[in-house]
Amino acid sequence: EETGKSGYDHFMLKEIYEQPRALRQCLRGRIEEQTATVDIGDLGGLNPTGVQLVACGTSYHAAKYGAQLFRDAGVSAQALLAHEYATAPPPIGNDLVVGISQSGETADTLSALREARRRGARTLTVTNTVGSTMDRECDHTLYIRSGPEIGVAATKTFAGQLTALNLLSLATSEGSNKRRTVVPALRDLAGHVQRILDSSAASTVAEQYDDAESYFFIGRGYQHPVALEGALKLKEISYEHAEGFAAGELKHGSLALVDENTPVFAIVVGDGEKAQKTVGNIKEVEARDAPVVAVTDGQSDAERYADHVLTIPESRPRTAAVLANVQLQLVAYHVADRLGRSIDKPRNLAKSVTVE
Ligand code: G6P
Repeated sequence: EETGKSGYDHFMLKEIYEQPRALRQCLRGRIEEQTATVDIGDLGGLNPTGVQLVACGTSYHAAKYGAQLFRDAGVSAQALLAHEYATAPPPIGNDLVVGISQSGETADTLSALREARRRGARTLTVTNTVGSTMDRECDHTLYIRSGPEIGVAATKTFAGQLTALNLLSLATSEGSNKRRTVVPALRDLAGHVQRILDSSAASTVAEQYDDAESYFFIGRGYQHPVALEGALKLKEISYEHAEGFAAGELKHGSLALVDENTPVFAIVVGDGEKAQKTVGNIKEVEARDAPVVAVTDGQSDAERYADHVLTIPESRPRTAAVLANVQLQLVAYHVADRLGRSIDKPRNLAKSVTVE
């Protein structure tokens, strides 16, 4: 097992560092920059009128992100927790039900996909695992090609899921104008992730806040699922309390918990309306003495109000989500490492949960 870690202390860290390669593999032969085309074979012809994305855990955060991609393309889309699928409105007409699962074996997701088939929907799985039950049972498969992931906490496969969902929405539902801007951003992703890995200040931030009472994560739009994922990662491997919020929601209740012992990680991308509003949320928590860690590309004035900055290269909001997430993975890893947790096999958790 030691040799499998290639010199890293943990599989999780190794897998975080494997992301540039995993992303290149996910995109290989699937994007063509000159012509701004995306080629995922027959899947490009699916043409869904509506999309339901079902998943659990980290994959559910990818589902929330994917639903936004489709909605931005004008396709009605919903992310649904797989174990709540029975309560969702049934799929109609040409709807596509997308099951997102690293393992392709999660019982809750599998049973939602089976239910979708019973309801007459077409099913597609976005998975890392060739030959998995979902791969075999669904009408279609989009592989994320991340390579094996050993650490229980999903890292490179989340990046792969977000990237593959971009391919799916671009190939089926988004126009050529969008492709012309997003394809280059996808091409740049691996290099940008490498820059973060080479220069991240996450270990310094972890050192500063490893004794915090609670950790909050906020983000808007495409950064909302990343805030949720940042909190989940930290909970899973550090056993510390963390919560992720849509940035605008914090003031509607949970702000009551914020004080000088609750560092707030705020993801701020670009300098548009969303970024400005999140900067406003930063000011709200700062006024309650919360330490602020801005995960930002430096385009807005978020840095002025932050105690620490985790920098990401400039990108489109949707691809910046992958980049911001890398910084949060590193924060979770370093906090858990400082606390001496069992990072690759956290207590109570399994890599794949095959019971409902
Ligand atoms: C388990 C794992 C999580 C994972 C979830 C979904 O609970 O501990 O890390 O996100 O299952 O797994 P899947 O293989 O369906 O993506």
